[in-house]
Amino acid sequence: MDKPEFATVTLSDTAADGAMPVIAGTDGPMAIDVRNLYADQGLLTFDPGFRSTASCQSAITYIDGEAGILRYRGYPIEELAERCTFTEVAHLLMVGELPDAQQKQAFEREVDFHNLLHDQVINFFRGFRRDAHPMAVMVGVVGALSAFYQEHQDYNDPAQRWKAAIRLFAKMPTIAANSFTYSIGRPLRYPDNTLDYASNFMQMMFGKPSELYRVDPVLARALDRILLLHADHEQNASTSTVRMAASSGANPFACIASGIATLWGPAHGGANEAVLNMLEEIAVPENIPAAIRRAKDRKDPFRLMGFGHRVYKNFDPRAHLIRDTAREVLAHLGLENDPLMAVAIELERIALSDDYFISRKLYPNVDFYSGILLKAMGLPSRMFTAVFAVARTAGWVSHWLELKHGGDHGIDRPRQVYTGKTLRHLP
Ligand code: SDX
Repeated sequence: MDKPEFATVTLSDTAADGAMPVIAGTDGPMAIDVRNLYADQGLLTFDPGFRSTASCQSAITYIDGEAGILRYRGYPIEELAERCTFTEVAHLLMVGELPDAQQKQAFEREVDFHNLLHDQVINFFRGFRRDAHPMAVMVGVVGALSAFYQEHQDYNDPAQRWKAAIRLFAKMPTIAANSFTYSIGRPLRYPDNTLDYASNFMQMMFGKPSELYRVDPVLARALDRILLLHADHEQNASTSTVRMAASSGANPFACIASGIATLWGPAHGGANEAVLNMLEEIAVPENIPAAIRRAKDRKDPFRLMGFGHRVYKNFDPRAHLIRDTAREVLAHLGLENDPLMAVAIELERIALSDDYFISRKLYPNVDFYSGILLKAMGLPSRMFTAVFAVARTAGWVSHWLELKHGGDHGIDRPRQVYTGKTLRHLP
């Protein structure tokens, strides 16, 4: 491969050099619009991991990683977590505004109407081994849902787009909860629409046909807050996957199934399960120094799960809110001295005083404390990412709606820098 004639390219602002416009949003960094760079100058931009690439314009969520800011449709996450419910925030993400009382009632009634599964969908669960990972079940069942709505797949029609989005948002807890009940040999459960979204999710996970399920309001509020805090997060890996699938015109059920599959990775939504496994492996504070040493050893693949973030380089505002909720729930359950919480708090303290983590700006992220909270609520660690998927469905369908409603710039088709063999012929 010939060496390039130039080492660097100076992007001039004179028209003669093919100046490229700079795009400014309403907040956050500006972007150089390079979409015509290849057509005009035969040059590509190279950005593996998309550290410096804006893949789209979006009005849903804003993050400032340096300042630890997260806003849904302009509202700070701290205010939403304190004063709103998950369904109100889902409406905010999907529609663009918080619902008034009448809109909230109508939205929740739509969700209630669509939270059942077609009876034949239930058969999909029975096709899995009982020990199937809940995320495997969710990928399979959600991907198959489009087969049950074939007559409603004209997604150029806003009404059909909305119905598909509501169906996915409404059915996700039913699918997630039953991927859990099936795994423990319990009969599959149906929604109880006398309950709110989070309480309904809990009764489907923990209820038994032989007794009336009593919702613990403290735990229900905690789950509602976990869902709210995980609802959306700009162009993270799974949301970008959903948008890329949507750009091909794939149906929304297939798009969300691709998001679930991506979220499952331990570098992404699968981290909450990995955090709990890590904390259980560390077990006692005395083992923390060894874990820190391993995390700092580049030859060791061990990482401090729940630490670090591609965007947040000071703190993840969600981590603090989940930590506080975890403390409330542990106290409510009489688990103030939960050993894993003690390990987590001490691990955070030690890591944040260690130059390796400070210099790399590695702080606890959304996944660091969520596992402790979900475990205290009675969920097995294999269900943690499934809960994350339920929450993030609000964001995924919002991005799908945004893209289909005018954000569609044609199919996403990145290029590459080719490093393989140059032309050669068979002997
Ligand atoms: C989520 O994008 C989103 O918004 C995601 C999310 C959402 O809401 O959708 O916020 C949810 O996915 C949160 C992240 C959950 N993942 C984890 O907790 C897994 C552990 N974290 C790492 O895998 C990592 O921090 C990432 C994947 C989160 C971020 O990786 P980056 O930005 O690619 O950072 P990097 O791999 O380039 O690391 C930079 C340096 C490296 O060291 P050096 O090469 O400079 O020596 O930091 C080190 C890394 O080795 N490093 C870690 C570490 N994370 C990064 N070292 C030890 N433990 C870690 N956790």
